[in-house]
Amino acid sequence: MLPRPGFDKAGILAAALVATGRLVNAGPCDIYACGGTPCVAAHSTTRALYGAYAGPLYQVSRGSDGTKVDILPLKAGGVAHSSVQDSFCAGTTCLITIIYDQSGRGNHLTQAPPGGAARGPEADGYDYLSSAIGAPVKLNGQKAYGVFISPYSGYRNNKPNGTAVGDEPEGMYAVFDGTHYNTGCCFDYGNAETNSQDPGNGHMEAIYFGTGDGSVRGTGSGSGPWIMADLENGLFSGYSPTNNPANPTINYRFVTAIVKGKPHQWAIRGGNAASGTLSTFYDGIRPANGYDPMIKEGAIILGTGGDNSNWAQGTFYEGVMTKGYPSDKTENKVQANIVDAGYAATSLTSGPELTVGSSVSLRATTACCTTRYVTHDGNTVNTQVVSSSSSDALKRAASWTVRTGLGNSACFSFESNDTPGSFIRHAGYHLKLDPNDNTKIFHEDATFCPMGGLNSQGNSLRSWSYPARYWRHFNGILYIASNGGPFAWDNTVSFNDDVSYVISAGFA
Ligand SMILES: *[C@@H]1O[C@H](CO)[C@@H](O)[C@H](O)[C@H]1NC(C)=O
Repeated sequence: MLPRPGFDKAGILAAALVATGRLVNAGPCDIYACGGTPCVAAHSTTRALYGAYAGPLYQVSRGSDGTKVDILPLKAGGVAHSSVQDSFCAGTTCLITIIYDQSGRGNHLTQAPPGGAARGPEADGYDYLSSAIGAPVKLNGQKAYGVFISPYSGYRNNKPNGTAVGDEPEGMYAVFDGTHYNTGCCFDYGNAETNSQDPGNGHMEAIYFGTGDGSVRGTGSGSGPWIMADLENGLFSGYSPTNNPANPTINYRFVTAIVKGKPHQWAIRGGNAASGTLSTFYDGIRPANGYDPMIKEGAIILGTGGDNSNWAQGTFYEGVMTKGYPSDKTENKVQANIVDAGYAATSLTSGPELTVGSSVSLRATTACCTTRYVTHDGNTVNTQVVSSSSSDALKRAASWTVRTGLGNSACFSFESNDTPGSFIRHAGYHLKLDPNDNTKIFHEDATFCPMGGLNSQGNSLRSWSYPARYWRHFNGILYIASNGGPFAWDNTVSFNDDVSYVISAGFA
């Protein structure tokens, strides 16, 4: 096919354009190209963002042997072939190592390096990689996985190719989980500094999602979360980092978030990624004090701030950056395409099922420890040998009432039998028994998603908020542990056994 002027992926568009002028089998990036603002970065673990894209979407690495596999779409323009991941990762753990750029510019996202604000927790100072199974989702009924960003996780590309620099115009959209956010700085997707430092105002222009970072930040109406722009040294909900009542709390399960900027003007738009249209929350002049002109550097971040501020959480499904300032009309067509993709929630659990309200005991399956059960001693969660002839006090300490997940109703929480109102939660990577203080952070720390046991026995219990981490007994104490990582309890030796528990009727 012959290239057509003004079209980024000319051949693709020629194939997709029918006589009516309507694009069929088009992806968001075909729509942007048709509007004269082609994608220069296109990232998604859930689907191809061009109608003709059939290359790799992302790469996962598995814990058992460190080997890696690329996940492609089922067909050109299609949804991710997630069953390849499921087979590859069966009986072990998997992390997302690369989120490929589909635009042809090589703007892939990989593990974020240390920055001015924070070293990551890994030994080399890099951020955590995301679990490959933290954000299961369905697109028109087909299973895929998003990128679940826990605090200290992030992806980045500091050697960008063709993204906006200086005051050049650009647009961005991303699809997030509107129910997964926090107040930490900064869950971002978009344009940032190429050296992971903060040289001053206006050096970045990224979409931000959450309730602000507690310092220089904007707010919208209600209590958040909000779509804002991280412009460096400030989260902007509108003209200034103060309140913009036209920027609403937006917490749909799937949120479309847009930020775009050009000389003297920028905008924030958003909507429900599963239905309906976009609204404009801000469209106007640049903020004062160093934001006009912008000094964009063009690096690409996902899940951290420009200087690697990495305390935020959120879930990313897809997003792009464009060359040029997209029209509202083009973005409205992209929103229609996202809605047509049919994003829907799916189950977060697998393996033997738990019943809310039942009393359970959890028995270790590691060869050393098959008579030991998950118990507590004060607020330390540990394992102890328990049997039918144990004291009533110990039987009660080893019995837990299954509750609907305090932080996500698709998972579970575990209330102590002998200390009603106290739940198992993680804190500093230890499991603790603490009273429910009804804070958002407690609820999330106390939510665990059971899945089939990694050693094929019983269940493994994944932390909802740190899905690369599972309940693990290590020297008799319970932690949330990853299969390899910076802490002693992340040791890979006997990991699968240490994270698998047979769950049966409670002793009490
Ligand atoms: C940068 O983008 C151009 C245009 O798409 C492409 O031809 C080139 O291969 C890219 N460079 C790298 C290093 O990927």
